[in-house]
Amino acid sequence: MFSKYKKASDAAPARKPAAVVDLAPPPAATAAKSVVRKAAQPAAAAPIDKDVKRKQRMGEIKLELHRALLDNLNLAALEHATEADLRQEINAISAEILAEKSIVLNREDRMTLNSELFDEVTGLGPLETLLKDDSVNDILVNGPQQIFVERDGKLQLTDVTFKDEKHLLRIIDKIVSAVGRRVDESNPYVDARLQDGSRFNAMVPPVAVDGSLVSIRKFKKDKLAIDDLVNFGAFTEEMAAYLQAAVATRLNIIVSGGTGSGKTTTLNALSSFIDNAERILTIEDTAELQLQQTHVGRMESRPANVEGKGEVSPRDCLKNALRMRPDRIIVGETRGEEVIDMLQAMNTGHDGSMTTIHANSARDGVSRLENMIAMAGIEMPLKAVRSQISSAVNLIVQASRLQDGSRRMTSITEITGMEGDVISMQEIFRYQRVGLTPDNKIIGHFTATGVRSHYAERFRMWGYDLPSSIYEPIAAQ
Ligand SMILES: Nc1ncnc2c1ncn2[C@@H]1O[C@H](COP(=O)(O)OP(=O)(O)OP(=O)(O)O)[C@@H](O)[C@H]1O
Ligand SMILES: [Mg+2]
Repeated sequence: MFSKYKKASDAAPARKPAAVVDLAPPPAATAAKSVVRKAAQPAAAAPIDKDVKRKQRMGEIKLELHRALLDNLNLAALEHATEADLRQEINAISAEILAEKSIVLNREDRMTLNSELFDEVTGLGPLETLLKDDSVNDILVNGPQQIFVERDGKLQLTDVTFKDEKHLLRIIDKIVSAVGRRVDESNPYVDARLQDGSRFNAMVPPVAVDGSLVSIRKFKKDKLAIDDLVNFGAFTEEMAAYLQAAVATRLNIIVSGGTGSGKTTTLNALSSFIDNAERILTIEDTAELQLQQTHVGRMESRPANVEGKGEVSPRDCLKNALRMRPDRIIVGETRGEEVIDMLQAMNTGHDGSMTTIHANSARDGVSRLENMIAMAGIEMPLKAVRSQISSAVNLIVQASRLQDGSRRMTSITEITGMEGDVISMQEIFRYQRVGLTPDNKIIGHFTATGVRSHYAERFRMWGYDLPSSIYEPIAAQ
């Protein structure tokens, strides 16, 4: 074999002058062919992922068409065009471009492409499908190539991407300019509300190091009601009955919880226990609450504009709300100096008010309130601060997102007064964790703690005579 090889290589130089010209192409062609065949064979053995290929091709076509569309569409006129007109226009331009480029697509692909183009031109591009997906709660973008969503309390990476950072920035810009704001190197972060009511926050480079960061809390048209939450196991019917009595008898309630733990959802559900005859004023950064009562005045605070003017803080709204004859005030989230006015309102005739705070337990929630008061520059002895808190707040409801993604009301705690320098509290209900299933689901149950409500007599006087059995603890199974 060795000699054969040698002969062949010997022979080649002998024919060199002619072979270079005549023979070079065939070996090259053969080589090229075999390269193609080699690549094709394993691919054929492992079935080609048609969907991925199709998606890639559609992505390329879409990009090309989008560029051409932007050249062809009169963007200024877009605002006034009706949806039907615009869709028709986009379909016509895309058909023209497809024909020009001799791209043949089946009807289904053409329809998908046209609707994606429509989303791209009028909506929020790749985010649009996620916004329309009802199973998605949160959308979290970490730069153009990584979009996570939260479903059933769990984060999942999606296969949705932006073309590049420029594409992502263009969509961010579209959202924020629609609400009269700007985001750029000098104003690198922004809060806004999407047209559908979803809460939107973005931060752009260079503060966002690996590309723009976007988080969207989807607006749910059908907010979870008390019954839904009981069915989902967020709390029990007994707890719901207790909460109904607490809301109806005008206890001041704070819903405490971590980020995304279900505070706003709980607040919204609790509000359903308010009598329809009452005048309710709500104050939020981004209007998320959906109260069912007839007499509701909604306020939305706003940050300063690009020139640093026009700020209306939650505190401004709250101060003004007190002049608007409210029966109850609901503040979406208390996180700053408005805490002073909130506590004062709770203490001075606007009982039955509610708010949320970021805290991990009832005790922690009280410390948060103390810190907020200190940060607001109020110089008051700690004991006086605590006494103010203890007489303002009656109930702290703790919302938690547990490690298996489930959201539960892990504690209901009453504030009963002061003992010396310390605020006294008693837990009435709690979620008792017992263990974990093999697939990491939490095993546990709700139980009363055995402590009778401090407000039991008040409940009774107001016609909410809760049976004493609801305060009896449930033994672990
Ligand atoms: N018990 C529950 N079961 C299932 N989903 C829930 C439950 N409670 C809340 N959710 C969903 O979880 C998401 C987050 O809830 P929500 O907005 O109430 O949280 P939050 O604590 O107010 O968040 P943030 O701190 O961002 O304001 C929402 O999409 C909501 O529909
Ligand atoms: Mg919230």
